[in-house]
Amino acid sequence: MSGDLNSHSDAQCGSGDLPQEHGHSHSHDHGGHGHCNHNHGQPSSSEHDAEVEAVSSVVASFLYYKTYALDNAIYRRLKCIDELSEPHRQIVASLGTIDKIKRAEALIRENYKLMLDIVHSSSAGSMPDPAGDAGVFKEWLKQFFENRQGAGKHVASESHMSKLYGTMKLFVRDWSSEGAEERRLTYGPLIEALEDEFSGIAPESRGEIHVLVPGAGLGRLAYDICCRGFSTQGNEFSYFMLFASNYILNSSLEENEHVVYPYIHQFSHVASSEDQMRAVYIPDALPSNMPYSATAEFSMTAGDFIEVYGAEDEKEKWNAIVTCFFMDTARNVLAYLETIWNALKPGGVWINLGPLLWHFDNVAGESSIELTRDEFLKLAVKMGFAFDEKKHKDDVVLTYTADSKSMLQYTYHAFMCVARKPE
Ligand SMILES: C[S@@+](CC[C@H](N)C(=O)[O-])C[C@H]1O[C@@H](n2cnc3c(N)ncnc32)[C@H](O)[C@@H]1O
Repeated sequence: MSGDLNSHSDAQCGSGDLPQEHGHSHSHDHGGHGHCNHNHGQPSSSEHDAEVEAVSSVVASFLYYKTYALDNAIYRRLKCIDELSEPHRQIVASLGTIDKIKRAEALIRENYKLMLDIVHSSSAGSMPDPAGDAGVFKEWLKQFFENRQGAGKHVASESHMSKLYGTMKLFVRDWSSEGAEERRLTYGPLIEALEDEFSGIAPESRGEIHVLVPGAGLGRLAYDICCRGFSTQGNEFSYFMLFASNYILNSSLEENEHVVYPYIHQFSHVASSEDQMRAVYIPDALPSNMPYSATAEFSMTAGDFIEVYGAEDEKEKWNAIVTCFFMDTARNVLAYLETIWNALKPGGVWINLGPLLWHFDNVAGESSIELTRDEFLKLAVKMGFAFDEKKHKDDVVLTYTADSKSMLQYTYHAFMCVARKPE
């Protein structure tokens, strides 16, 4: 199995669309950082510099996590309690609220260990082992941030920190048993439709069928498809996703060996502190245990979907393309559809499920084409796709990185479609 960060020859990267702490389930952050940017072929020196900064800014977010989370989730709250009148402070203390905040503080420190491990396993920025000599590590960290500040860079932007929190919740969606129900509802119908397409072929003979999953997030859908015998490639352009998926895919030795506390930063819509403090263990399935690894290949590519799969060398290479919560990440969905068309073999199938939360809608300075579902489907027909009407589903009720214990729940009423590129 290969799941290396740069398994695509000209690794490129792109934007991240991660859940926000508040409100809508996936964000509209378009700061232009944290993504692979350069093109096929030799990058120019400015592209190279942009790439180095994209990686460095994401590394900085992981490293800055403890300081940021303690300031925002803990110290600010303790200060507010300190500023209460003494009788009020005593009442709040008697409720266990101060103890709860202090417990969250300890768990942030636990999360920080995971963040450091993720960066260390990515080999980005030649970070020394955080579990090794504490003095060496501290000095490296100091130097890292001094270098960034010396170069006039942000320590870490708010939007990046929000993406980091979102990445923790994506661990739950993709790699925990707590996420199993969300995956059953979301990935289940996609996998079922794919298996239906190739139902005459036994899993051990499906290695010749090549399936692409653009916008693969943390890679679970791609992995689950590969576990059905298909040779599968996930594609991502967000370094948050690439670092985190690389960690799970390549550094996991046992099921549930890592622990994350994704909800400790969230103090609203919480019924009990047990809900907020609960541990989530990952990965619930061991990526190195692929049932058909002798016949089916698994890989992740780093790069912008259009740049990688719109290229000549990807033309008519894929038997199936599976898009999940992805099509609405487009600035120009026509370009996404053209790319799918380019990459699909004649007779190949495109299976899609998701909402239409156009990611660049109303973002200042960004161009964006927002279509209704009906316009989207009409467009795909105009481009030549032939839909299987029997497989179309509207009103598919889905969540995206939902906290099942939260008193606030968002649901999407998504649509699913299956289309073929005619022979
Ligand atoms: C809403 S998330 C969905 C992730 C995953 N499919 C899932 O269902 O959990 C969209 C993903 O697409 C990725 N993405 C957005 N635009 C992309 C592009 N042009 N090329 C590659 N990946 C992209 C984002 O980084 C993000 O991980």
